[in-house]
Amino acid sequence: MDIRFQNASGGEWRADCAMVFAFVKDGPEQYAPALWEAAPWLEISPGLRDFGGKKDEQLLLYGHPELPVPRVLLCGLGGREDFSLEHFRETVAKAMCFCRSRGFETLGLPVECLDYAARAADRTREFLLREATVAAMLGLHRCEMYRSALGEQDGDTPADPRWLGYLFTEKETPDAAHRAVRQGEAEASGVILARDLSNAPANHLGPSVLAEEARKLASAHAFNCTVLDAEQIRDMGMGALWAVGQGSEQEPRFIVLEHCPQGKEAHKPVIVVGKGVTFDTGGISLKPPAKMHEMKGDMGGAAAVLGLFAAIGALPDADVLPRVVGLIPAAENMPDGRSVRPGDVVTTLSGKTVEILNTDAEGRLLLCDALSYAQQQWEPAVLLDIATLTGACVIALGDYGTGLFTADPFLRRGIEEAAEDTGDLVWPLPLWDAYDKNLKSDVADMTNMGPREGGALNAALFLRRFVNKGVRWAHLDIAGPGYVVKASPLLPVPGGTGMGVRLLCRLLRDKDALGPLE
Ligand code: BES
Ligand code: MN
Ligand code: ZN
Repeated sequence: MDIRFQNASGGEWRADCAMVFAFVKDGPEQYAPALWEAAPWLEISPGLRDFGGKKDEQLLLYGHPELPVPRVLLCGLGGREDFSLEHFRETVAKAMCFCRSRGFETLGLPVECLDYAARAADRTREFLLREATVAAMLGLHRCEMYRSALGEQDGDTPADPRWLGYLFTEKETPDAAHRAVRQGEAEASGVILARDLSNAPANHLGPSVLAEEARKLASAHAFNCTVLDAEQIRDMGMGALWAVGQGSEQEPRFIVLEHCPQGKEAHKPVIVVGKGVTFDTGGISLKPPAKMHEMKGDMGGAAAVLGLFAAIGALPDADVLPRVVGLIPAAENMPDGRSVRPGDVVTTLSGKTVEILNTDAEGRLLLCDALSYAQQQWEPAVLLDIATLTGACVIALGDYGTGLFTADPFLRRGIEEAAEDTGDLVWPLPLWDAYDKNLKSDVADMTNMGPREGGALNAALFLRRFVNKGVRWAHLDIAGPGYVVKASPLLPVPGGTGMGVRLLCRLLRDKDALGPLE
């Protein structure tokens, strides 16, 4: 679906259907005055009087089919005092799906109507333009890649609308508004890529396919990209990443992507590490079968990194971003004659040794080598990792909560503020020194498993052992929200969510959170 702009008085707007959003009891003169010119027939449309603007109320009104705007879809936002961004995004997504289900090809959204909602939300027009764009695109997302023509068809699947047009009364689209829409489009395309990658079955997406995706992004958007193969991983000394991948027919990869705007070559990069376990059986410490198929999504962190780079590549102003490095340690965790065993001791890239007590605690193993690599190769301004790391985090924060671990107050605030904008549920969890002794090993420098209790904290503390003093680090545990089995207006395809893409995009613009980069 294209996203376009129309700049004219209401009388010259054109769309099969105009979508408007209204608070309780308001009429068009409040939410979209120019709509009277675009659809003068509204005045005599009896249905208009029936529309109350209640939350989730939807009413489609018809004018004569030959008119330039022959339909108006009214969508209720409820009371002003109950406004929430998440509900606004869902309302936009539902309106888009409704229009698609009716086969409307061209859709219009009067920007006046966003100004009106923005006043109530105490946000800018640009903010709502971006959110509406993201919501419209995510709401229409489908995944038909793995169906054939021979499969069961649920009737005619309607095509997506050809375009969504933002209807401006201004003669020209202001730069800021234009940029906001293109930002929204970029972020949504990154989220969609991440979702598709997470939903890809493990027989279609192994470590080498993740690497191919990174290479594709690099050549499309002029990023730097390096991929280490299995032999290079071993020779370099990434013994922990190697151990996770050693039982799989599909060899591990270590992926490096870099966005370096001109003139920032000497800047300290923001480094984002994403867990890329393309399938997690648990290895020799095999998982129970019940929900094992969901472990194709155990590369949600990697998907977020690739989605972030896809978004950066599509941004209209990517050169204002800092230098960003994405690192993906990618492996498949399988049981096999060659697999790593419980009790095995491996030497990590840092030189520290780890006794692997449970082969299902594999995420922290490949992440620790990536964290070491990040600090050996660069001096990170900020070091982030994002990973579907622990079931314990899901127990603590539920299916939608992201656990945030950081000792850095600026980073914490930055991440929390970004999450408030994007609608992600992020909550801080502690890095208590007292729990660090949980990782003591009888034979090696540490084990990869603490007690079940406080499992998310134990994993975070394991990672912290690989972060040098003074490095500004945050760890995001997305075991819950990375992969969600329930569909919703903004997640019409259950499964991979793309969690992290928007959050990271937003964070990269936050100068306070990132600190000095030069
Ligand atoms: N990938 C899992 C964590 C996970 C669980 C993600 C549920 C998404 C949903 C991770 O590799 C894992 O297996 N962690 C173990 C660690 C334990 C063995 C210390 C866990 O959480 O049970
Ligand atoms: Mn595991
Ligand atoms: Zn895992």
